[in-house]
Amino acid sequence: MSTFQAPKGTYDLIPPDSARYLAVREAIAAPLKNSGYGYIETPGFENVELFARGVGESTDIVTKEMYAFETKGGDKLALRPEGTASVLRAALEANLHKAGNLPVKLWYSGSYYRYERPQKGRYRHFSQVGAEAIGSEDPALDAELIILADQAYRALGLRNFRILLNSLGDKECRPVYRAALQDFLRGLDLDEETLRRADINPLRVLDDKRADVQKQLVGAPVLRDYLCDACKTYHEEVRALITAAGVAFEDDEKLVRGLDYYTRTTFEFVHDGLGSQSAVGGGGRYDGLSEMIGGPSLPSVGWALGVDRTVLALEAEGVELELPPATSVFAVPLGEEARRVLFGVVTELRKAGVAADFSYGGKGLKGAMKNANRSGARYAIVAGERDLAEGVVQLKDMESGEQEAVASDAIVEVLKAKLG
Ligand code: HAM
Repeated sequence: MSTFQAPKGTYDLIPPDSARYLAVREAIAAPLKNSGYGYIETPGFENVELFARGVGESTDIVTKEMYAFETKGGDKLALRPEGTASVLRAALEANLHKAGNLPVKLWYSGSYYRYERPQKGRYRHFSQVGAEAIGSEDPALDAELIILADQAYRALGLRNFRILLNSLGDKECRPVYRAALQDFLRGLDLDEETLRRADINPLRVLDDKRADVQKQLVGAPVLRDYLCDACKTYHEEVRALITAAGVAFEDDEKLVRGLDYYTRTTFEFVHDGLGSQSAVGGGGRYDGLSEMIGGPSLPSVGWALGVDRTVLALEAEGVELELPPATSVFAVPLGEEARRVLFGVVTELRKAGVAADFSYGGKGLKGAMKNANRSGARYAIVAGERDLAEGVVQLKDMESGEQEAVASDAIVEVLKAKLG
């Protein structure tokens, strides 16, 4: 193992690529900030119990993928594998739901950790931007979230994604379906682990990727036939609202999410250019989660979009984001006196909001111009002793190669005007 190697399943974000990750986070957050969602930040770890109860004891996330550990003080903690349980915990702790203003709408951005088998698009450390609307049962809220995610992806320039939509029923109808499905699964030729899964979480068996299992699942009872009237009406309203907003989706009755807290509306955003790790985002309604972690009844809905996979999806579609240049002006001083003068100019430019950088380390003209080129700056300003004696600096247009002398005391204004 090299000392300079990031841990397995992780990678670093480094310039210039890191700028795209920032831009993706900002693009996902923008429609949320514009729709009444307030920013929330919670710790990177929680009591392990929160995820065991919230995400579910029978999920892969909790049984296989959680970074759980005991501290020196004996606390049992886990690095957060997802954001929803943490955000709801924080909202309950701060009594946000009692402020008389439901739903409480929150958005977040951060790192999440799952001990998964790494592959392209699947990492042990990844990043999400998410949104949760807590304490309200209203199909317009489910629709709002789906529409905002669609808007975020479109604003980024993504086109080849699809929205899969399903309803998982509620505490009235899902148990009836669950029992029917279990009856069906018990009659199949399944290995021991799958049978155990059928006992604990039969819906997950529908998600099994193996062809021999899928073959046997033909004819399995489908949840749609078991939905109660309230769930059906709710789901129809969600569908109608998204349709009216012009957002296309596909009904996918096989959509079962990997977390136990979902009820009613569930959805996933999948991108067709990503191979097996095609889900760029997902979410749904979790009306029972608050009670599962010891809170009052607070029907809620939310989603999280994966930043890593969104960047991969942009690459797959060949979308180039329009990023502001890291540096617009690069200053090249030749000699001590010029160093002081141009450093002052760079400071003024920065104050004026112009992205400016400087040749440090007393480099000669050739080396410094190489740096100016690499910086991507549109303009270089160069000054030596003779220029200073004449009260000017040389302004070089890095695109055309043209150079002109500009009075030192006018250079900031001239550059501001040129850069518009
Ligand atoms: P999730 O489907 O587990 O949902 O994760 C959401 C997104 O995070 C995925 O669609 C994917 O883009 C990204 N993601 C998940 N695991 C990985 C990984 N190992 N490597 C890279 N990207 C990954 C949740 O986390 C729920 N908390 C969403 C939610 C919010 N539901 C309601 N509110």
